[in-house]
Amino acid sequence: MIRPLLPADFAASRRVAVDAMTALGEEMPEETPEVTARGVARIAHLQRTDPGGAWVAEEDGRVVGCALALVREGMWFLSLLMVDPAHQSKGLGKQLLDASLQTSTDRSWILATTDPAALRRYRRAGFDLVPCLTAKGTVDRALLPSTSVREGSWSADGEAVDDITRTVRGAGLGEDLPYLEETGVRLLMADRGYAIVRPAGLVSLAADDPGTAAELLWTALAEAPAPVEIDWLAHDQQWAIDVCLDARLPLLKGEGHLFLRGQPPMSPYLPSGSLG
Ligand SMILES: CC(C)(COP(=O)(O)OP(=O)(O)OC[C@H]1O[C@@H](n2cnc3c(N)ncnc32)[C@H](O)[C@@H]1OP(=O)(O)O)[C@@H](O)C(=O)NCCC(=O)NCCS
Repeated sequence: MIRPLLPADFAASRRVAVDAMTALGEEMPEETPEVTARGVARIAHLQRTDPGGAWVAEEDGRVVGCALALVREGMWFLSLLMVDPAHQSKGLGKQLLDASLQTSTDRSWILATTDPAALRRYRRAGFDLVPCLTAKGTVDRALLPSTSVREGSWSADGEAVDDITRTVRGAGLGEDLPYLEETGVRLLMADRGYAIVRPAGLVSLAADDPGTAAELLWTALAEAPAPVEIDWLAHDQQWAIDVCLDARLPLLKGEGHLFLRGQPPMSPYLPSGSLG
């Protein structure tokens, strides 16, 4: 049975997501209370802002799948689609995706894993596949240039962050902005660009021009622990590919791919896997 995701489902939905990603072979951080709380907070945030895009699959009274989609200023983004490994390939993923697509708009997109079942589902739902590479490794710190990027402040720079995001992807961050601040992620600011980073690495990066984006990415690389990972390197992010190569990071097969349905290409942009 597919039904709306309710607050009582947060913890079970988080469990399904962890189990599905682990079965896919994803390296998951150790499930400490903080990691669990962060995962649950993400689900709670999106269920609150976008209840129409939040669904679970239930079998014998147990949550065995979930989907979360957000809409910001006319742009739809799929944040999560997970089915418990023991219940996959029985059509639940399609039903969950169809339910969350009820709020989809003419500018919709998805950041997919490499799961063949996911790639099949998204293309069958009419999304265009944009293959991506991942850069992963240890940055040669002797190569790090100095940049004019400064520490940002959510209260002082929030409006600029919203504005830059709107320019790049056609939709601001809206209610995701206070959520990001609450999660304690850091903001790095340039004149017309920003990078959001957390201790594990880059969350997202947007700028008005490739030069500014490159400066921000260099700064994010300098801040990240080794090994660093930069995902979503699609054909229209050559500026980021160049920075990764200059930092002597190897380009590897993608940890995920991009799917677009009416959403124009977004560059220079390295999106957040959970918020688009
Ligand atoms: C992706 C996922 C949500 C799909 O859920 P599901 O319940 O298995 O999906 P469905 O049964 O509706 O559809 C799966 C489709 O992929 C096909 N499929 C399954 N395994 C496959 C494989 N190894 N290669 C190719 N196709 C495959 C199935 O035949 C089915 O296609 P069909 O309905 O046209 O026959 C689920 O597999 C999952 O949780 N994966 C791990 C997490 C993940 O990657 N999520 C996507 C996040 S972007």
